[in-house]
Amino acid sequence: MQIKDSINYVGKVDWELRAFHGEELSTFNGTSFNSYLVRDEKNVLIDTVWTPFTGEFIKNIEKIIDLKDIDYIVSQHSEPDHSGALAHLMMKIPDTPIYCTKNGKMALKGHYHKDWDFREVKTGDTIELGKKSLSFIEAPMLHWPDTMMSYLSGDNVLFSNDVFGQHIASEFLFDDLVDQATLEYEALKYYVNIISPFSKKVEKKLEELLAMNLQIDMICPAHGISWRANIEKIISDYALWAKGVNKDKIVIIYDTMYNSTRKMAESIAQGIKQSSPQTEIKIFKSSNTDKSDLLVEVFNAKGILVGSPNINASLLTSVSSILQEIKILNLSNKKAASFGSYGWSPANIKMLNTGLEEAGFDIASPGLKTQWVPDKDALTKAEELGKEFAEAF
Ligand code: FEO
Repeated sequence: MQIKDSINYVGKVDWELRAFHGEELSTFNGTSFNSYLVRDEKNVLIDTVWTPFTGEFIKNIEKIIDLKDIDYIVSQHSEPDHSGALAHLMMKIPDTPIYCTKNGKMALKGHYHKDWDFREVKTGDTIELGKKSLSFIEAPMLHWPDTMMSYLSGDNVLFSNDVFGQHIASEFLFDDLVDQATLEYEALKYYVNIISPFSKKVEKKLEELLAMNLQIDMICPAHGISWRANIEKIISDYALWAKGVNKDKIVIIYDTMYNSTRKMAESIAQGIKQSSPQTEIKIFKSSNTDKSDLLVEVFNAKGILVGSPNINASLLTSVSSILQEIKILNLSNKKAASFGSYGWSPANIKMLNTGLEEAGFDIASPGLKTQWVPDKDALTKAEELGKEFAEAF
């Protein structure tokens, strides 16, 4: 597949994948492992693919050039979804130099234990390809210490690796050819789940990129489709997401054993509705909701309420788990409150508040506990909590 006259897509579209990073991240729309072959007087391969697709990847390249005609390999990020095919490729062309960051070299050595011809690069370093040149831009912690991007002059293409990626499998290569709602959602989901723990780094890197005044006609990430129609939008979306999003939306997350905490959740929602009818309210049972999608809901809400019954001086597992995941996102400027039923020990409220505080939320209420099954009075109190919470903004 042709990206530009001198750039071929040699990656792998994976229509099957439904989970990534083990089972941590859902990928309901599949994904792709993008690798690009840039042809000039010198030929450069940018990134590879995940190990299981090594054979197809090598064939993709061989349809275009002989492997020995690859002059340089650029490894922008050593995570195995982008470097997995490297070891096999290097068995065939062992003397080919590999351009990567210092951290990239360390990580590649750590993964593959080979003394390949590594060429360490820093921001601003450039390799001449003939008519065009390839310049490197370090992007540490977006999302690994080794990450870098590469800019191809002449074609004005930014190869951005994981940054600006999305987990989408598509027969199309470009942003203007795919379903826009899916694209927007998957770009956001990718940002939230992969990039947002490093949002402060994103802000700085975007400032640095803009200060470089690069003419960017295309952004080619390492997953999903490439951006050619919505370049400014995806960059401004990243700037917005990095600063934090607080939509007029409140998310209620709970788990329940015998429906007491669920009843509280629904009464809290009624209270929010009465006090703030325009606010979007979403309610999720954490044990039957996809975690990666739930994090997106939390990411763009202005506040959350989290509920769990007490069980053996602990929270239900799905609630503890989502609290831990939310903490990793490093969110700020959001409010939270807790609720839940209990039998003889209301330790759940304290644990929920601690979890929410540790996740960086402002606690807007001491929390609401209900002993045993909530009666009419208890549900009225839950409604009151909803009203107070809605009025706290
Ligand atoms: Fe797509 Fe961080 O690997």
